[in-house]
Amino acid sequence: MAHKILVIHGPNLNMLGMREPETYGAATLADINNALKVHGRELDMEVTAFQSNLEGEMVEKIQQSIGVYDGLIINPAAYTHTSIAIRDAVLLLKMPVVEVHLSNIHKREPFRRHSYLSDVVVGQIVGFGMQGYLMALHAIFHILQES
Ligand code: DQA
Repeated sequence: MAHKILVIHGPNLNMLGMREPETYGAATLADINNALKVHGRELDMEVTAFQSNLEGEMVEKIQQSIGVYDGLIINPAAYTHTSIAIRDAVLLLKMPVVEVHLSNIHKREPFRRHSYLSDVVVGQIVGFGMQGYLMALHAIFHILQES
């Protein structure tokens, strides 16, 4: 049976393509989601994507993923650096969670270096643009294969 993977994109990621392309690349969110779905099919994984600009909606989506999905890829965007609520929601999950950032948050402004998620996820993939999401998908694939 295909594993079900949820991808959650946080605020302003709906503007990818036109948003600071020198930092975040030219790919749109639709490009990223399509690539994830295509690669997911090759790995027998069914990928569902969700984007919200609202912290509470992201918390609700994480809660609702329990019992439905087998893995989570999350780019909380600016909430990475501020949201204890999203951290606490991720702590509810038993499934593997991978944190992704398009840019390398460790070589940008100091306020982006801290992530409220980094110590409660399996791992963090930063700085590889949209490829980072595909790396995260492969990481979850291997974790689920082993379990
Ligand atoms: C981001 C990095 C965050 O600091 C920023 O607020 C974003 C995008 C990234 O993917 O590089 O919105 O999460």
